Amino acid sequence: ADRYAVFGNPIKHSKSPRIHAAFAEQTGEAVEYSAQLVELGAFENDVARFFAEGGKGLNVTVPFKQNAWNMAAQRSSAAERAGAVNTLYQSADGVLCGDNTDGVGLVADLQDNNGVSLKGARVLMLGAGGAVRGVLEPFLAAGAAEIVIANRTVANAQELVDLFGDLGHLSACGFSDVEPRAFDVIINGTSASLQGELPPVPDAVVGPDTACYDMMYGAEPTPFCIWAKQQGAAIVIDGLGMLVEQAAESFRIWRGVKPETRGVIAEVRRELA
Ligand code: ATR
Repeated sequence: ADRYAVFGNPIKHSKSPRIHAAFAEQTGEAVEYSAQLVELGAFENDVARFFAEGGKGLNVTVPFKQNAWNMAAQRSSAAERAGAVNTLYQSADGVLCGDNTDGVGLVADLQDNNGVSLKGARVLMLGAGGAVRGVLEPFLAAGAAEIVIANRTVANAQELVDLFGDLGHLSACGFSDVEPRAFDVIINGTSASLQGELPPVPDAVVGPDTACYDMMYGAEPTPFCIWAKQQGAAIVIDGLGMLVEQAAESFRIWRGVKPETRGVIAEVRRELA
């Protein structure tokens, strides 16, 4: 079997080996996929060794996505703009190539799995870190009409507006300054849920037709998902589907075969409980 792995720190709770094993079984591809804990400072050496020893492809997660971006000699346009690489592989002539499948994964989960169209959508993006940076280009490519980026530190949101403003209609503000009017789509890309917190945006940003999406997920609903439901959102989704979809897109890049995701999302969901 061809060898693949995910590199990160921490890595113990990674669901990627489980997901890729399901893809391999489903497609009949001879893929072996493991999770590897990489010490801080050892990423570049470990990546070089992995490929030198015949490894075919890597996923990269926290905190190494920028290291991977720097290492990649060739980057997809999505990766270039995202400033982060989560998928590495070698071209036929041995060039290290980097891609970023997070944005495509989120768009696929919204549009294909949940019927939430981004075409013409007014989007409220909460957060301005790496997670949000990775999805802005794919959102605009999918036809989002406007993206308001709200963040605790407004300067970080403004930085993203400066980086992506040429691609579409973007603006930056603080949480409490978001215009209290219903958005079509709200994405929580902050890590506030990890502290059990909620970005303090006005309740009126959620209307009866609003779709709310938290990039985080867990066995229990996240604080953002609980809030969105309380506000009467039309649809409330957590980030498990995005996780599986970005994996599927990596698998497609490596193997040229796109796995079916719905069954895998359901399986991983059952195993969360
Ligand atoms: P990631 O890769 O997950 O995006 P990151 O780049 O560290 O991680 O970004 C974390 C994001 O969550 C940032 O937008 C951060 O806000 P700041 O730019 O002000 O730091 C946001 N964040 C983290 N904790 C938060 C909290 N408790 N409330 C609101 N926003 C929070």
